[in-house]
Amino acid sequence: MIQPIKTFDAYQEAYTKSVNDPAQFWGEVAENFDWKSPWGKVFSGDFSQAESKWFEGATLNITENCLDRHLAERGNKLAMIWEPNDPKERFVRYTFRELHEQVSKFGNVLRAQGVGKGDRVCIYMPMIPELMVAVLACARIGAVHSVVFAGFAAHSIADRINDSGCKLVVTADALYRGAKQIPCKAVIDEALLSCSTVEKVIVYERAQWPVEMVVGRDIWWHEAMASASTHCEPEVMQAEDMLFILYTSGSTGKPKGVVHTCGGYMVYTAYSFANVFQPKESDVYWCTADIGWITGHSYLIYGPLLNGTTTLVFEGVPTYPDPGRFWQVCDKHAVNIFYTAPTAIRSLMAAGEDHVLSYSLDKLRVLGSVGEPINEEAWHWYNIHVGKERCPLTDTWWQTETGGIMIAALAGVSPLKPSFAGYPLPGIQPVLLNQSGEEIAENEQEGYLAIKFPWPSMIRTTYGDHERCRLTYFDTYKGYYFTGDGAKRDTNGMYKIIGRVDDVINVSGHRFGTAEIENAINQNTHIAESAVVGYPHDIKGQGIYAFVVCKDKVFDPVNLRGEINETVTAQIGKIAKPDKIQIVSALPKTRSGKIMRRILRKVAEGDVSNLGDTSTLLDPLVVEEIVAGKL
Ligand code: PRX
Repeated sequence: MIQPIKTFDAYQEAYTKSVNDPAQFWGEVAENFDWKSPWGKVFSGDFSQAESKWFEGATLNITENCLDRHLAERGNKLAMIWEPNDPKERFVRYTFRELHEQVSKFGNVLRAQGVGKGDRVCIYMPMIPELMVAVLACARIGAVHSVVFAGFAAHSIADRINDSGCKLVVTADALYRGAKQIPCKAVIDEALLSCSTVEKVIVYERAQWPVEMVVGRDIWWHEAMASASTHCEPEVMQAEDMLFILYTSGSTGKPKGVVHTCGGYMVYTAYSFANVFQPKESDVYWCTADIGWITGHSYLIYGPLLNGTTTLVFEGVPTYPDPGRFWQVCDKHAVNIFYTAPTAIRSLMAAGEDHVLSYSLDKLRVLGSVGEPINEEAWHWYNIHVGKERCPLTDTWWQTETGGIMIAALAGVSPLKPSFAGYPLPGIQPVLLNQSGEEIAENEQEGYLAIKFPWPSMIRTTYGDHERCRLTYFDTYKGYYFTGDGAKRDTNGMYKIIGRVDDVINVSGHRFGTAEIENAINQNTHIAESAVVGYPHDIKGQGIYAFVVCKDKVFDPVNLRGEINETVTAQIGKIAKPDKIQIVSALPKTRSGKIMRRILRKVAEGDVSNLGDTSTLLDPLVVEEIVAGKL
């Protein structure tokens, strides 16, 4: 097991070693796992070709490291606590032995349906134990999981299923989210109308919601599990075999399937979890992210289980039945380590301190933040009211593509500075680049955040299109992985993440490409064209501001906004609905037809005092109209 770094001096020593001799450093970390056969070379690769290979030649199965190897000493220890949406419903707990049994059984169910090594499985499920079981069962048999957040609409699911050619889908009848019940199976049925690769659908009954089972295709989870054996031989995987695909948005309209592989991802998620969160053997750890996002993959499932840590899975939302729900769950399950997103903190902060004061948070020892910049006000509120100023608060910066936490304080070890992510983890070499792609050596500077050396859990490819991976991440600045973020370094070399510098909006910690939302809006028959930008939002971090141009002049703006929202909900899902929709007669464009987003961003931000040079616009009057109609 990984022994976390305990002092800042030791961190600095480890960091220096990781830079001077990465192969030796990561080779030693990797010794902490069960491999079926050893690696030949720790790593090889070439950033210019977007190539990186870790522990090549070694074989393993990640679930043996998450489950089997804990059985002797931790068989009866809790692996997972599940807290349902409704506080009145009974919670569920699995020991490592029980989770191992469930995963093995479901692995056998998948194999019985003809799923094997390398096959892709789409998982579209509520936050219930069976979601974790399904993910691990795929890994057990070497199938590639592609979890799709159960908030995406049929159209988006179909795109993801088709892009990766999934053979099987695991879903549920419906899900509970706060006061709502939302169908899942019906959405999958609709998606599958345009997917030809899916042969079987396994359905878990969560909410007794009526579903139509397609004969010969659909199978009930409980029926298939009833007779499944609890012994499931783990598939022998090469370190560089694919573990999962997770779709994420970028600057273009089409989300990309980020690919992570078995060996490097295992080593890095376990290493970063142990060092950032500093778990103790008896700790209960709670990450509030949904498994549909990377945080749920790396730090709700793999990171904690690899370290033998008890992980809590929560089905509900922070504000149901009231804004004290998070703190009630912390109290109820004696949570020691709590990892959430700034958007949740800001919404709970707005609900007032009384909700926090109603519960005992005595057991909390470490707090974490992820997904977007945490503003100072939220940082202090979280630190004072939740952490009672005695829990280190680590702000963790990373991305779907990085697989694991890259820049963050090691809790209780590294210095903290509100709204700063801090120092890089050992093995991670961030740099700030200027406009010309040169490294900025000085501190107290801002620049484009890039990484100059490979790390074990970095993106391997974008599924089915390696050139897209190379162009997106490794081509903008030659010799670097470009993050798409801007950052600042203070006098002590601590990093503060400023935000995206590309056409990506981060809404409540969820990434959307502006082009993706524009494509959805443009599906509305009344719309000729649209431009979407982000703007500062008190709770969500960024809100979505859409400027739309209509084809026809006769329309009712209220109806039109409602219709656009419906179109976006149907195309992507409710989570991508614009917060503001301004109807304009034209978009500000240069004479060559390029939309001047800089101007739209300023209008959306409410900063119209200095719109810069508008003389190059095709029609400068358009800007006046847009400013006058600003929402
Ligand atoms: O802009 C950064 C922001 O979220 C982006 C990555 O989004 P995603 O791949 O969905 O992963 C989110 C969870 C890891 C980054 O490019 N981001 C993430 N964490 C932070 C952050 N921005 C500031 N501070 C953070 N701690």
